[in-house]
Amino acid sequence: MAKTKSLHRCTECGAETPKWAGRCDGCGEWNTLVEELDIREAGASVPSPSSVPVSMSEIADDSSEARSTGLSEVDRVLGGGLVSGSVTLVGGEPGIGKSTLLLQLVGAAARGGARCLYVSGEESVGQVRGRADRLGAVHPDLWLVAETVVPHIRAHLDQVKPDIVVIDSVQTLQDPALSSASGSVSQVREGANSMTQYAKQHGTAVLLVGHVTKDGALAGPRVLEHVVDTVLEFEGDRHHGLRLLRASKHRFGPTTEVGLLQMDHAGLAPVDDPSGLFLADRVTGVSGSAIVPTLDGNRPLVIEVQALVAESQLANPRRSAQGLDQGRLAMLLAVLERRCGLSVLGADVYALAVGGARIGDPGADAAVALAVASSLTGNPLADDLVVVGEVGLGGELRHVGHIDRRLNEAARMGFRRAIVPGATVDAPDGLQILRAPTLAAAIALADVGPH
Ligand code: TYD
Ligand code: MG
Repeated sequence: MAKTKSLHRCTECGAETPKWAGRCDGCGEWNTLVEELDIREAGASVPSPSSVPVSMSEIADDSSEARSTGLSEVDRVLGGGLVSGSVTLVGGEPGIGKSTLLLQLVGAAARGGARCLYVSGEESVGQVRGRADRLGAVHPDLWLVAETVVPHIRAHLDQVKPDIVVIDSVQTLQDPALSSASGSVSQVREGANSMTQYAKQHGTAVLLVGHVTKDGALAGPRVLEHVVDTVLEFEGDRHHGLRLLRASKHRFGPTTEVGLLQMDHAGLAPVDDPSGLFLADRVTGVSGSAIVPTLDGNRPLVIEVQALVAESQLANPRRSAQGLDQGRLAMLLAVLERRCGLSVLGADVYALAVGGARIGDPGADAAVALAVASSLTGNPLADDLVVVGEVGLGGELRHVGHIDRRLNEAARMGFRRAIVPGATVDAPDGLQILRAPTLAAAIALADVGPH
């Protein structure tokens, strides 16, 4: 093979130059030149096409024989397991547990009969082996190599021929044919391209670890998100044991499911009773707390939301929302002020979802609003009460999806009464339904208004 050379291409106008420069000669833009491999140098004259157009009706559906990973929560998020030839990017902050998760995954997959290779670019094989021992992931069909040079990894892949390969991490990949430093956008992109090519040619499932920067972007490689088939985000509060795994992109299934795992001394374990975990530290009889049966993906979760209303010393009162949407909180405060006659707009308001949960579900509106009302008046909600419903700008309580699943979960957790939107029909056994057409009616039913 001819020696590969690299060139620099402008991301704006596409002009090429052999050397990097701060400004593109073609269009005059600054900082738009990105290094890439010059494939013409590698001796590739344009070949005649090997692909043939076929009528859609004559094509057999060979899509997605998903293979279980051996980790139930990962299978849940992937909709069954890993598809052969697929490329999955697992993103998360440093220290969140990506290496732990993937080492456990290949350990479990090897026990399930898959041949696996773990490529570590950040830790020595001795360190990984030590961790694998603790995680119970040691298996003869799990192979391990510490390597960062892409052509060498390709050679190891050809030797081991794994069903599943983990690259930990994509940011350590480097191709000596590129002059840019490892971790740069061009190195990461070319490394990922090379792994993707291998996956498609050999039917190997590739898992790429990607570190995420502070602002939440997958470092540099936003570019990777459209190269890969699946993007999994691994998140959680590092100070809590709870970890959430979500798919933000998935070519082989829906992106609605959430995996819940807990980090302890023996690695990550599935959470059997998430609602129980979220409610574990609950203190009853305190104002500013409300319980909501939310839905995360297809899984019902009973979560506590808390609010604290304090007199403000500021011209622009403070608004803080943790695990809740900031804009949504501002809207709820306006509705409380204008539709329910509660004076909150001049006060500092802090609101949060307990236990590091992140609620995107509008069904939590009513609970957040009642928690704020309760904190303002000092009147707590009853211990056995849950609240669910979306709040509209008119102050009405709107119907939310899968109310039956939410209420069943609340009943299972031992709650006895539920404030619900007016249109809700049936209640599960043991749960009394209190219908509230408006937020003001909900405040009255929960008895958290001014006395
Ligand atoms: P790690 O998988 O190295 O994170 P990442 O690859 O995302 O950077 O895990 C980081 C943390 O997890 C580490 O600080 C220690 C903790 N941990 C446990 O609590 N229990 C365990 O069994 C393991 C392996 C790690
Ligand atoms: Mg790691």
